[in-house]
Amino acid sequence: MILPASIQEVNDTAKIEDVVGDFVNLKRRGANYSGLCPFHNEKTPSFNVNPARNIFKCFGCGKAGDPITFVMEHEQVSYVEAVRYLAKKYRIELKETEYTDQQREAQRELDSLYLVNQFAHDYFQQQLFETDRGKSVGLAYFKQRGFREETMRNFGLGFTQNEWDGLLNTAKRAGYNPDLLKKLGLLTQSERDFFRDRVMFSIHNLTGKVIAFAGRIMNKDPKQPKYINSPETEIYLKSKVLYGMFQAKKAIRQFDECLLVEGYTDVISLHQAGIENVVASSGTALTPDQIRLIKRFTPNIRFVYDGDAAGIKAALRGLDLALEEDMDVRLVLLPNQEDPDSFVQRVGADAFKEYLVENGKDIVQFEAELLLKEAGNDPTKRAGVLGQIAKTIAKIRNPLRRDEYLKVTRQLLAVDEGKLLHEVNRQVKQDLEKQQKLHGATPNWDENEDSSEQEMPRSRPQVQEQTISIGDEFQEKDLIRVLVHFGDEMYDAEHKVTVAQFIWLNIQDVVSEFDNAFYRRVLEESMGQAQQGVALNHGFFLQHKEADIRQLAANLLSSPYEFSEGWEKRREILLNQKMPEVNFQIDANLVIKQLKLRKIGRIIRQNQEKIKTNPEDLMDLLRLDQRLKEMRNSLAKELGMVVV
Ligand code: UTP
Ligand code: MN
Repeated sequence: MILPASIQEVNDTAKIEDVVGDFVNLKRRGANYSGLCPFHNEKTPSFNVNPARNIFKCFGCGKAGDPITFVMEHEQVSYVEAVRYLAKKYRIELKETEYTDQQREAQRELDSLYLVNQFAHDYFQQQLFETDRGKSVGLAYFKQRGFREETMRNFGLGFTQNEWDGLLNTAKRAGYNPDLLKKLGLLTQSERDFFRDRVMFSIHNLTGKVIAFAGRIMNKDPKQPKYINSPETEIYLKSKVLYGMFQAKKAIRQFDECLLVEGYTDVISLHQAGIENVVASSGTALTPDQIRLIKRFTPNIRFVYDGDAAGIKAALRGLDLALEEDMDVRLVLLPNQEDPDSFVQRVGADAFKEYLVENGKDIVQFEAELLLKEAGNDPTKRAGVLGQIAKTIAKIRNPLRRDEYLKVTRQLLAVDEGKLLHEVNRQVKQDLEKQQKLHGATPNWDENEDSSEQEMPRSRPQVQEQTISIGDEFQEKDLIRVLVHFGDEMYDAEHKVTVAQFIWLNIQDVVSEFDNAFYRRVLEESMGQAQQGVALNHGFFLQHKEADIRQLAANLLSSPYEFSEGWEKRREILLNQKMPEVNFQIDANLVIKQLKLRKIGRIIRQNQEKIKTNPEDLMDLLRLDQRLKEMRNSLAKELGMVVV
């Protein structure tokens, strides 16, 4: 394990402009740099680097973070690998705790598992391309399916003879331990070849190492499964792997979209036709880990499934999951009886792409159309559609994206905004309560590695209510913004009160009313740290152990407020007015008041419900109502006075 002091040294030494500069052509713009974003396709630069804060941020795709995050994202490596990369670049010697013999042994075993798989892969290829039966049966089969040799090599396709010990004997002769082959599922328990008389598909991990195989029978045989697959092993966790990701990742990033299909051959055919941003869940139901894997490359996912009932059902399950992971989801159903492989081979790449564009539906549109069709003219069923769609929208965590869907749905279902919002809010609450029951008091919504928080374009905080948002999320986020930006500043130097403490003192009483569990967690967690004497400076958030919090901080710290064209000029004006030193105090005050105003509004409404139902406490409740309204009015007045 790398010692924390060494990681700190890397953090302190790595310069964001150097680290990014190795990959992106940066141009100076004032105190900052800009360039073309390496994470999505763009023609005008929206990628910014801020040396003062040592962070980068793309205003196009939302990616943001510190040097370590940049390396992780750009090179698709783990945290530790990114630290090692930077240490090498800056010639920092990493101090590490010694590995135990056990750890060393485990590493050796992993290495040998990869080696054996590579050996098996080479064997299967050699059988395909260099043996008589391989050529006349295996190669002929692939060719008849329209695969070119180059494609076969690129995807590591192979062949096995109809024999029990071809692989076993070759491996033994080459000095490989049969136990390892057994472990990998290449041999059965009775030490016979597991894959026999099949064409072979290699499954790779992200770095291109062979981690598993699938074998397909070449003839139709209802008594045998069409495909058999390697079992799960230490190097093959099915729920975390997507077939074709190694070959697709570059194109996925380049086109900022990932096509998701069902089968191995679908991936291969599309790739061969030049549509390379495609992966498959290969037979198993899509998992959250697989969606997160895609999310490392793009937030946009397009399901391309068969148009039959099974395809639609599989798609719907996956769509929900993707939504919960905050992906932008679209769906295309193919004409009946076609899968992507057959379709692209029949119509060609251009027509295929055209079909995707013309028939792509967003999830809400798809669901609404499907449900409305099912409901027919039945008025009660039609009314139920609203509830169903609200359920789907409630799953979307990103408030901005949720707003977009609300707008679409309003038009699609021709319902009024109030009714729809009410329904969605009800669902969000229900989901929250369910989560709370499952995970205790503070549910962890955003467990995903890299949530791509989108930045809200904002200038000064404003008093008027957001038109459509779920509860008070905007205000809660704004409060976190002030905390991250200025938490460590002195709000009141004379009495040694920091901005963080000021916020906490003023917000404690309504924290339990937070709508967004993530923002609440950030607030509570950081305040807990602060009470133990930890300074809530930028580093605290940017180097937080939770990736979600790091990402959120990077996003907030590089708000357009700081980077936008007009900012330099605005800052000049502010400087002339000697504003910045007092600015954050006004800012902190405003957010707190705004949030409280909304929370009090809610408490008033809850209290009024009680007034209706609890006549015995009427006098007390009315007095409370009175007091709450006074508080609300004075807050509103103060806000009205401060905000211009
Ligand atoms: P399909 O039956 O749609 O096959 O299964 P396919 O991909 O179109 O394959 P071809 O074109 O007939 O060769 C979709 C996926 O489900 C998994 C495989 O990953 C397959 O690609 N599957 C299917 C299995 O794992 N085992 C099976 O027996 C069948
Ligand atoms: Mn097929």
